[in-house]
Amino acid sequence: SPSQSSVTLPLPDDFHMHLRDGAEVLNSIVPQAAATFRRAVVMPNLVPPVTNIERAKEYNSRIRSALPANANFQPRMGLYLTDATTPDDVAEAASYDGDDVVLHGYKYYPAGATTNSDAGVQNLLAPENASTLRALEDANFPLMLHGEVTHGEVDIFDREGQFVKNVLMTLLDKYPRLRLVCEHVTTEDTLNFVLDAEKQGANVGATITPQHLLFNRCALFAGNRMRPHNFCLPILKRERHRKALLEAVASGTSKRLFLGTDSAPHPIGAKESACGCAGCYTAPHAMSLYAKAFDSTPYGVTHLRAFACENGADFYGLPRNLESDGVMTLERTPLDVPETYQFGEDTVVPLCAGETLEWSTRV
Ligand code: NCD
Ligand code: DOR
Ligand code: ZN
Ligand code: ZN
Repeated sequence: SPSQSSVTLPLPDDFHMHLRDGAEVLNSIVPQAAATFRRAVVMPNLVPPVTNIERAKEYNSRIRSALPANANFQPRMGLYLTDATTPDDVAEAASYDGDDVVLHGYKYYPAGATTNSDAGVQNLLAPENASTLRALEDANFPLMLHGEVTHGEVDIFDREGQFVKNVLMTLLDKYPRLRLVCEHVTTEDTLNFVLDAEKQGANVGATITPQHLLFNRCALFAGNRMRPHNFCLPILKRERHRKALLEAVASGTSKRLFLGTDSAPHPIGAKESACGCAGCYTAPHAMSLYAKAFDSTPYGVTHLRAFACENGADFYGLPRNLESDGVMTLERTPLDVPETYQFGEDTVVPLCAGETLEWSTRV
């Protein structure tokens, strides 16, 4: 019921997170991610980017080396799509069948859109990319989209809306069977695209972050002060967008919306800067943040299970995590979010640092 004080779920999955790189950082982040999630799709925007199977294997083994001995956590590797990705690369990745790495899909970054996206695709719909997109469609291999246009003249708040109108609709028209995931959806425009696609039986899903369910763009300037720790990309939008996203997930009306935190830590100096980086660190307390958002609606946390534990697995054709393999209990017990975490030499400020959240988790 909407006023329930605890809910027990199978272990949740995160279909979009950044684990970064380097032994010290991985040794800090990976255990926090593994304490919250059973499986996670790991984004490939490293320097250099994870563009091929060899790099994905190496990165996967660095991640696995950072796992606590008793952890039961599966990293699912994203591959970075570039203008040089070939149909053969796609076919090889899609049919890869080694037990040393799980290749989850390709990630599209528009060149210049966000952190380490310089190697991204110049023009997804260009004729040169057609055979690669066809190969993804033929292999039913997922294409995860950072859905923003990046032409300098487009207002930052309109970049996602323009992507839907000018790229996404055409993409799905041309490749109707493509398994597309709109990552970190922030607008009603993309939401409607996903819900329409669902009605038409297309293979389209979407991830939604906790920050885009909790905050609108005013959070970037709360109290008339700049709030760099609320800055992520796509940028927070107007309240009407937040409301539409929250209503859609909390009401449980769609099977195609699922959890993807976009947890993306940066060292404090890179955030609190004259030229601050985009990204919110949420891996340790993501479920408390989502519970807070869901619980602010009349539906309460009723449909959190579908969002966190079912819809994503179903969309990707993966087995759902079972309660018999471990559970997470969310309860109305205060959680004090730390002011900072120490990642080796780096200090990282999490989202909602220093705040007390109403829901905590127990595994
Ligand atoms: C495969 C899986 O785990 O079922 N991937 C997927 O569904 N995207 C694993 C693989 O690709 O090797
Ligand atoms: O805010 C963001 N941070 N958005 C992204 O798309 C990338 C991420 C990062 O890697 O820092
Ligand atoms: Zn992105
Ligand atoms: Zn991301």
